[in-house]
Amino acid sequence: MNAVSSVAPQPITDQEVKAALDLAVGQIRRNLPAFTHASQNHSSVGNFYPAVANDQWTAGFWPGELWLAFEHSGEAVFRDAAQVQVQSFLHRIVNRIETDHHDMGFLYSPSCIAAWKLVGDEDGRRAAILAADQLIERFQPVGQFIQAWGRKGVAEEYRYIIDCLLNLPLLYWASRETGDPKYREIALIHARTTLANSVRPDDSTYHTFYMDPVTGAPVRGATKQGYRDDSAWARGQAWAISGMALSYRYERIEEYRQTFDRLLAFYLNRLPADMVPYWDLVFSDGDGEPRDSSSASITACGLLEMADLVEPEPAARYRTLVRRMMKSLADHYAVKDPAVSNGLVLHATYSKKSPFNTCRGEGVDECVSWGDYYYMEALTRLSRSWSSYW
Ligand code: GLY
Repeated sequence: MNAVSSVAPQPITDQEVKAALDLAVGQIRRNLPAFTHASQNHSSVGNFYPAVANDQWTAGFWPGELWLAFEHSGEAVFRDAAQVQVQSFLHRIVNRIETDHHDMGFLYSPSCIAAWKLVGDEDGRRAAILAADQLIERFQPVGQFIQAWGRKGVAEEYRYIIDCLLNLPLLYWASRETGDPKYREIALIHARTTLANSVRPDDSTYHTFYMDPVTGAPVRGATKQGYRDDSAWARGQAWAISGMALSYRYERIEEYRQTFDRLLAFYLNRLPADMVPYWDLVFSDGDGEPRDSSSASITACGLLEMADLVEPEPAARYRTLVRRMMKSLADHYAVKDPAVSNGLVLHATYSKKSPFNTCRGEGVDECVSWGDYYYMEALTRLSRSWSSYW
């Protein structure tokens, strides 16, 4: 790791935010030849992303970075590359290529909704609405949730995951865009089910939650990518924090805001001094476990989202927290030398195998595409008044 500091970070300055964005945009520019007509793998291998087909749940983040680079620099080359990606996303949803899961928001918000909002790309709008249509097909009335993975209705796959909160903005957006309330209604129901089951009494979260396919009753929480069923996977907690903030933007339901604060308190209490969590919040300094830098950027974006929606006092507190997190990331985790990595942020963890979880184990202590995206989104939110892609 680049000399991780054991001292609490100072807030990042506006000048440092701009310098960090300039550095990131330079790296994205260098990546254009490799990834204009290809997708980035979900995670790097030896800190370098391979080029892959547009068939992973993570493919939306690279075009999201292109849009953020376009917004920061104004350079048409980023817009043009992002619009090449939009065509690939339209093809993917029209032909339903690897879309048999719930990650439509992760895929279509930073790529296609961004394209529609920023340059009025009609294909982006069409693709995103088709993605919302696909997502609501996964709604299970028995249990009242959007099924995350696998064949719909199969008992061993009858579950939702905390990450799905980030897919809900696509549904809120689709209802506003089309005037059809059905997307929003499902988002509200799914959020209600998530709050009822996935937040534990200590304000940590379950990664996944099984429901009974016959009665619809909650069955049990379980992890796939966290350390164990009853620990708090760092990214799950970050998705929950950010997801509550985004839901609160669309729907001013007080429970979302209160839950946001509870989840945040749990998360902050388990951070090491440099404010970048280990991959599961059960770990701390000296355990020898890798970090997940992407969780810090996701949480930062959630804090900045909520800061725009609340009174001045909590807003100022959230923004100061973000500036400290981003100082740590920019100084000690961001890639400074393209010979080291073609990504933006080092030391993320996609899925680390443990004796108690069920993941394969990949992308450990690497760059991850959403880590790069959310790092840029947080810097962008600090640098300007930003209209969200979510
Ligand atoms: N949404 C999957 C992950 O965060 O790894």
